[in-house]
Amino acid sequence: MNHQSELTTFAIITDPHLGLDESENGWKMHQHGEVLLRGHLRLALEGGAEFVLMPGDLTKDSEPWNHMAARQILSEQPLPVFVLPGNHDVRKSELPAEANWGIAKFAPFYQGFGPTGTHPYYSLDLKPSLRLIAINTADTPDESLVDTWGGRVDDEQLAWLDTELAASRGKRCIVMIHHNLLPHSRDDHEGTFWGHFLLQNRNDVLSILERHDVQLAFSGHHHVNNIARHGDLYEITTAGATTYPCSHRFVTLGPDFVQTRTVNFPDEQVVSVALRELTEGPFHMPTGDRQELAAVFHGRPEGRDAKLALRRI
Ligand SMILES: [Fe+2]
Ligand SMILES: [Fe+2]
Repeated sequence: MNHQSELTTFAIITDPHLGLDESENGWKMHQHGEVLLRGHLRLALEGGAEFVLMPGDLTKDSEPWNHMAARQILSEQPLPVFVLPGNHDVRKSELPAEANWGIAKFAPFYQGFGPTGTHPYYSLDLKPSLRLIAINTADTPDESLVDTWGGRVDDEQLAWLDTELAASRGKRCIVMIHHNLLPHSRDDHEGTFWGHFLLQNRNDVLSILERHDVQLAFSGHHHVNNIARHGDLYEITTAGATTYPCSHRFVTLGPDFVQTRTVNFPDEQVVSVALRELTEGPFHMPTGDRQELAAVFHGRPEGRDAKLALRRI
């Protein structure tokens, strides 16, 4: 069997929003965060994952102690884990600066979990014919996103992405990204409350991915289980590890297909607390709408489990 015909299985665990010592649990389940993250990692290992992708929002709000906890938990388990910053892993003007690390700290702190230099974006060979392209959308080096929860890819990184994909020709390239390239719920449109889930300059990124025939992107941020399609590109987004329904996702990649299976955390009591926090706890949305939201978070069957055809590389 040559490497072109091998299967690769990995897991996606995203948006754990670790918040140690928080007095409020809330819909991001800070009081269960550590148990959930450790549990998802153990289940990924037991389920045969060869590595884990974590596309961002590792911490509640980029507190140094939560970054330290995240790195410690990742270090204590044997799987390779590749991380990205989310909008909650960088500085925001509305948060106290002394307890809120900025984007410059991310790459140096997470060496060994993807970043190798000073940039929070990177690419690496997962296998000889399989390359991971990790795109940073959380902030730019000049902290231009400090006043928004939205995401953007600056011109320097766009140029890097184009060059990197050109240099990776002949390999299957999979993209990891925090903010969404495609809408994942009926309310995701620019200018609406949900519009901030979409990457501000997603069309710039989409046109580069299209030009280089990229067929798979894995995102977080929206906290929903869904698969969206744009031409030959599938964007597979996974619900939060600690928000209802506390999901992780397995992905098996073959030479001409991708198969994915979503798992809710197998502790019904914890998941029922997450549902209660989302639908009854403090949240910026009326209760009826929140119940509808819970169904969107859980995802339709075809957005959770699917086998999709890919073009061979
Ligand atoms: Fe998040
Ligand atoms: Fe996010």
